[in-house]
Amino acid sequence: MKILILGSGGREYSIARAIKNEQEEHELFFQPGNGATTNLGENLNIKDYNELADFAKENAIDLTIVGPEAPLVDGVVDIFKENGLTIFGPTKEAAQLEGSKVYMKNFLAKYNIPTAAYIESDSIEDLYKFTDTLSAPIVVKADGLCGGKGVIIAQSHDEAKKAIGEMLSGKSFGDAGKKVIVEEFLDGYELSMFAVCDGKDYILLQAAQDHKRLLDGDEGPNTGGMGAYAPTPLVDEELYQKVKDRVIRPTLDGMQAEGAPFEGVLFIGIMVVNGEPITLEFNVRFGDPECEILMPLMTSSVSDMFYKAATNRLSDINVEFSSQYAVGVVMASENYPYSSSKPAEIILDDVKHEEIANNTHISFAGVSEEDGILYADGGRVLVCVGLGDTIKQARDRAYLRCGQVHFAGKKLRTDIAYQAL
Ligand code: AMP
Ligand code: GLY
Repeated sequence: MKILILGSGGREYSIARAIKNEQEEHELFFQPGNGATTNLGENLNIKDYNELADFAKENAIDLTIVGPEAPLVDGVVDIFKENGLTIFGPTKEAAQLEGSKVYMKNFLAKYNIPTAAYIESDSIEDLYKFTDTLSAPIVVKADGLCGGKGVIIAQSHDEAKKAIGEMLSGKSFGDAGKKVIVEEFLDGYELSMFAVCDGKDYILLQAAQDHKRLLDGDEGPNTGGMGAYAPTPLVDEELYQKVKDRVIRPTLDGMQAEGAPFEGVLFIGIMVVNGEPITLEFNVRFGDPECEILMPLMTSSVSDMFYKAATNRLSDINVEFSSQYAVGVVMASENYPYSSSKPAEIILDDVKHEEIANNTHISFAGVSEEDGILYADGGRVLVCVGLGDTIKQARDRAYLRCGQVHFAGKKLRTDIAYQAL
């Protein structure tokens, strides 16, 4: 197939890498890709979605896969479909499940899908009143997309009220904070689950755990994610079944009833409280770095799964997973997540040790390339992925690979997968 992938991160790199490793040969294009995706296909520079759809038609692209949420919320899927193209991802309307937390919470409430008790409002009085009924910590969320920063876990009522005021006034997140959610704090452990959906049927991938904080021991500021592992032993068959019955099935049925069937990746952020899965949030795309560890665990064709999902035929296929574990360790730039960093040359040692060469790889993200040299170009630079028969083995291999990657200011957590070890 000729496949176009939208995005530039490690997530998109890992999807492309999995497709390139399939037996069948595929030709890949990236919009915009990064400094390493050029080793897997061709990078484009076509920002306008209508022009991109023209490119896809002129070049007979068989399948487009959308990585990040922004193009989905902007309606790239609608534009491609209007042009008769096959694209994997939710429509603009269905992408509201991530694009608007108010839409998502009201949807969960309407279809009786367990979630934290909440109020959504644009009235400071109503929000304050509900805040007073809760005990701290109190969770305050801006409605719209805030690049992962729109959630405040307030440690006191005063802090919660300050956050509410700053959101409503537009001070903290502009228009994204015009509506605010206040909700109860859930105390439990967090999971990421991913269902590949075709509107009606779905395939649930292995449950993963992300590490959102910058520093070891879950300290420091929130990031996009500093590492992940899967499958997590914190999920047993019973919990998978509860998530299927109480979250995924009613979500797919509910979105059909809403007239916005959900096609694409349903990313369910779950808090497990006393053994019960409570939905924290939905995203409408793969997690990053979760995608980087889930793709190498798939032993059946990834491109076929996305193609069948995009053509509403998931029930036709059997998806197979490896029995191994994967651990991914993010290496980030010096100033991440605060500000950009100066480009720094990346030196990759030759991996001579056979065990490491055969059981690890790198998914490249924030990298640029010039004259054959790769540069760390800010943000999360790359993910070292280790595979193994145990989580410990996978983790040890991932860290050995990290030791063979060098750039000025490199930053990484040293405790990825600690919850499982
Ligand atoms: P979200 O963007 O909604 O996933 O929120 C970001 C992070 O805030 C989540 O990954 C959780 O760690 C935390 N969080 C969100 N909502 C709650 C809640 N109701 N209780 C506890 N933690 C929460
Ligand atoms: N790693 C979490 C996310 O992609 O939102």
